Amino acid sequence: MLSQVVQDAINRQINNEFFSSYAYLAMSAYCERQQFAGCASWLRLQSQEETAHAMRLYDFLIARQGVVVLHEIKQPTADYPSLPAVFEAALAQEQTVTKQIDDLYELAFKEKAFAALVELEWFITEQVEEEKTASTIVHKFNLVKDDPASLLDLDRELGERGTAEAAE
Ligand code: FEO
Repeated sequence: MLSQVVQDAINRQINNEFFSSYAYLAMSAYCERQQFAGCASWLRLQSQEETAHAMRLYDFLIARQGVVVLHEIKQPTADYPSLPAVFEAALAQEQTVTKQIDDLYELAFKEKAFAALVELEWFITEQVEEEKTASTIVHKFNLVKDDPASLLDLDRELGERGTAEAAE
């Protein structure tokens, strides 16, 4: 049985992951408005991934006879000054989530919640990947700058995400 303090922290992380999902969806909607369909599609898929992260913790709590508490999801940013700013915000968000996961891991360690530690190891590995992916995209936007042809190419490349994953 998980201690109350660990359950509370996992419920907070479920909310953080749902907030990430919401934030990516808002970023996707912004890109749709700017007619960058590839970026919008990439961000929409990322939003779905964040929902899956939330559900992974949700299922874990249930498996350990915990009580799921769904907190209110705060409103994400809807507007960005530019397309690169969206991905800079995405990277910053992933860095925040990494910190949240690290803190949760530390708490689970202190509480001797060993099953939670094993579960959270998946998230620690996932965060390495997520930060790396986001920083690669930010780097590409820095290279492209305001060149319209390169921006369109990058948009097309990001739009291939779903196709590439389906083929894996
Ligand atoms: Fe669930 Fe992108 O962290």
